[in-house]
Amino acid sequence: MTVGPTRNASARPVAGRTAYALLHNTSEIATCDAAGEQVLRYPKGAMVFQDGRVLEVGSAGELSRRHPDARPLNAGGRLVTPGLVDCHTHMIFAGQRAVEFQRRLAGESYEAIAAAGGGIRSTVAATAREREDTLEKLLATRLERWRANGCTSVEVKSGYGASPAAEVRLLDLIRAASQRVPGRVHRTALLLHALPESYAGRREAFVEEVCEQTLAEIRRADRATSVDVFCDPLGFSVEECRRVLTRARDLGFALRLHADQFERSGGAQLAAELSARSADHLEAANAEDWRALSRAGTVGVLLPAAALTLGQKLPDAGMLRASGARWAVATDFNPGTAPAQSLLECAALASRLCGFNAEETLRAITWNAARVLGTESEVGHLTPGAWGDAVTWECETLEELPYWMPAVRPDCVFLRGADLALPAIERRVWP
Ligand code: NIG
Ligand code: FE
Repeated sequence: MTVGPTRNASARPVAGRTAYALLHNTSEIATCDAAGEQVLRYPKGAMVFQDGRVLEVGSAGELSRRHPDARPLNAGGRLVTPGLVDCHTHMIFAGQRAVEFQRRLAGESYEAIAAAGGGIRSTVAATAREREDTLEKLLATRLERWRANGCTSVEVKSGYGASPAAEVRLLDLIRAASQRVPGRVHRTALLLHALPESYAGRREAFVEEVCEQTLAEIRRADRATSVDVFCDPLGFSVEECRRVLTRARDLGFALRLHADQFERSGGAQLAAELSARSADHLEAANAEDWRALSRAGTVGVLLPAAALTLGQKLPDAGMLRASGARWAVATDFNPGTAPAQSLLECAALASRLCGFNAEETLRAITWNAARVLGTESEVGHLTPGAWGDAVTWECETLEELPYWMPAVRPDCVFLRGADLALPAIERRVWP
């Protein structure tokens, strides 16, 4: 643990300016440093927001002396952390697959269910049947729920479109939904997920269309910042993924991969080769793969809800620490493998299943996750200059974050230094 220093403000802000506020009466402020190297802890610390950003963090006495004109915000004696970052979700879909879950519990494999017409394709069909305005509203509702759970940044992938054109449409709906709710939403085009039925027997033509047309169409209208692929014998081959990702990289997209989920098939190695932002899943990856990710600066993203739902093991913290790689934890929210709606709950599971301590857990859902999204210079930490995205939690210590189950609830969620009233959504029933 490192006790963070008090930062000096170069100039005192002008009284009366918008969003000039002093968050005080905390039990503790816990945040990564700006480089994401260590966790800084400020017992009974305070923080000054100005114009949406963090101006200073430090001792409450000193900050209140220096900022007598700042509007006081009382943290109620609670823990304050950066807003959480969920860097991997498939949040735009219709329907649910609870019956498939029962079939798997009865012994059927994910693969067999998919081969029999279930799996990803059944969600593709349900999504295609849904009205677009309903899909948009459903997504906006889900984004509200994530915010109520403490996430101020969320990544949303397309991936349940029935054709390349349908994927493009889903990306437009993600943009529309994110304009309806506060919060940062990052759009990812998951283009190799399942071969659309209309391309049955024409894999090559599908990959060709994605490379030659779809990627450019997405780029032109800034529909996504990242491109993702499902690199697995159940999804697409290393060769097919390399082709799409290389083209995506040339067009300026950041790269993501679903890698080594069902078997160790080269996904993590491909992620390292292409310097992808992240390799996600990695249930079947080994120490060599993690070392390759470390050398490439690629973040390994763990998805405990998916691993638990599919009865798979998660990697041990010891192997991850020895590799030197960074890791993040995300929900992977999707109807097939991860109907998980709380990132903190997923982090509490990862802490137990992998052996992460409280500081590692915090890094995995803040700074490291922001790095996956390319926003780590100003999101995922509360250091001077970063956006004032913060949460006051209904607990007092950082150690309690991965401890309570169900997960600790946010008391207040701040976005750009503003306390957003939490939606009443938690009182509603699914979805
Ligand atoms: O990340 N593995 C591929 N994609 C999703 C599951 C999609 C589904 O089953 O609908 C995942 O786990
Ligand atoms: Fe996923």
